[in-house]
Amino acid sequence: MAFYVTTPIFYVNAAPHLGHAYTTIAADVVARHHRQRGEEVFFLTGTDEHGEPVALAAEAQGLSPRELADRNAERFKALLPQLHASNDFFIRTSDPEHVAKVQEILQRVHDNGHVYKGMYEGWYCPRCADFKNETEQGPGHTCAIHEIPLTREQEENWFFRLSAFQEQLERLLDDPDFVQPAARRREARAFVAQGLQDVSLTRGKLTWGVQVPWDPSHVFYVWFDALLNYVTALSYAKPGEDLTDTFWGAPTTHLIGKDILKFHTIYWPALLLAAGLDLPHRVFIHGFLLGGDGRKMSKSLGNVLDPFAVIDEYGVDALRFYLMRAVSFGEDGPVSMDGVHQRYSAELANDLGNLASRSIKMVLKYRDGHVPDVDLDPALAADFAGLCEKTGTSLSTFNVSEGLDAIWALVRRLNLYVQDTQPWQLAKDEANAAELDRALASLIEGLRTVSTLLWAWLPAKMDSLLGTLGVEDRTAREFGEGARVRQVGDLDPLFPRIERAEAA
Ligand code: MSP
Repeated sequence: MAFYVTTPIFYVNAAPHLGHAYTTIAADVVARHHRQRGEEVFFLTGTDEHGEPVALAAEAQGLSPRELADRNAERFKALLPQLHASNDFFIRTSDPEHVAKVQEILQRVHDNGHVYKGMYEGWYCPRCADFKNETEQGPGHTCAIHEIPLTREQEENWFFRLSAFQEQLERLLDDPDFVQPAARRREARAFVAQGLQDVSLTRGKLTWGVQVPWDPSHVFYVWFDALLNYVTALSYAKPGEDLTDTFWGAPTTHLIGKDILKFHTIYWPALLLAAGLDLPHRVFIHGFLLGGDGRKMSKSLGNVLDPFAVIDEYGVDALRFYLMRAVSFGEDGPVSMDGVHQRYSAELANDLGNLASRSIKMVLKYRDGHVPDVDLDPALAADFAGLCEKTGTSLSTFNVSEGLDAIWALVRRLNLYVQDTQPWQLAKDEANAAELDRALASLIEGLRTVSTLLWAWLPAKMDSLLGTLGVEDRTAREFGEGARVRQVGDLDPLFPRIERAEAA
């Protein structure tokens, strides 16, 4: 089975920040998990390089848009290995292959009769690159997202006949699967219910963009160029092979933040319908990470969590774990360095790190590193029953934190199991050898099960733990199913204790 997951492509007008890391990590967890289920996965990310946000930022820095795009695209590319993102391709919308494909598809939309010339007059946010209707504006014609004055625009543009898709979009947005979580679907549905207006497809005032084939004095409005990346990338990501048939039409999920809901749940499906292309299966909308004080993150409030500082102090897996665990995926929530420290100490170092080191040390000490090949404890097996399936269900619906919670409950269960069985007491008397064998074997099988599943969230640390257990396969398997761990080796501390120098 094939599975396709995408992140939004990031604007190159600024350097990567926590919000970018957040979407990328979540998509990576889901991609890795689907690979663990034996599926053929394609995970796409990249950069959105055209349009006004980039042109304006370049001008402010005395650079050409291309210079700024080249510089910042490199920074976004460099971020991915730092996050341990396993993306299959990195698209840049300035790639000539993307440009040609955008022209081809939008020419088709034009030829299919969905484009006409008209006069645009209205309010525009250059930071969102978005034309705002009355209900989307803040007080006094400001941008509700960026809190900056909107500009009054009047220009002759080519228009996309969005209004013609009113009924089809209503039906699509009535489908509970297409947009999740449900509250976001209702938001999109309410927007459509106001009555859709046609939107500008091109801009005559800009030159930094994809040229319109039937009117070379215009470039395409950046959002249409950008959205099409999800389709165009498949045609050239793999040299000599077109992956479109394999992955476009496979269960496709676009993962996005709530600020770009309208584009992905309204403009995008309408554009695909106009071009005669299949629709994605789902758009999942995550919330916003807020400052530790619960307010919007901003440099001036000093409440910004720097992902690179977390990586430097606690390691990348700690960043991945914290972001997926601290905020219920789909909702807004506060994040802070103090929060990272607490979760790292209590959950990674204590719950998981201790469990792994104690369990392995006991097998080394009492059984010379050989894991007893005996029947597993049925009570523990009962508590583990269906864990992989449960995690899979959560991740299939992008409940990334719910999946992690389910695994963590079993990490804690294993710690209780150590306390209950007290292998060090059993080891004192040979008469308890069988009981000790069963406790150690069950513990290691539990550890194998949770660490294989946790690999999607904590790939580097779990590679090291699974290496100690001699497990090469990363396939998610239920407790007690398939090959058992035979032998354990020495384990370096997974999550060494870290003293926090200063409270943030
Ligand atoms: N270029 C467009 C997307 C085009 S997709 C065809 C764009 N780029 S962006 O760089 O501004 O934002 C990328 C993503 O980062 C968005 O999904 C946005 O929601 C997310 N985040 C930006 N700040 C965020 C937080 N503070 N918290 C969580 N995610 C946030 O929009």
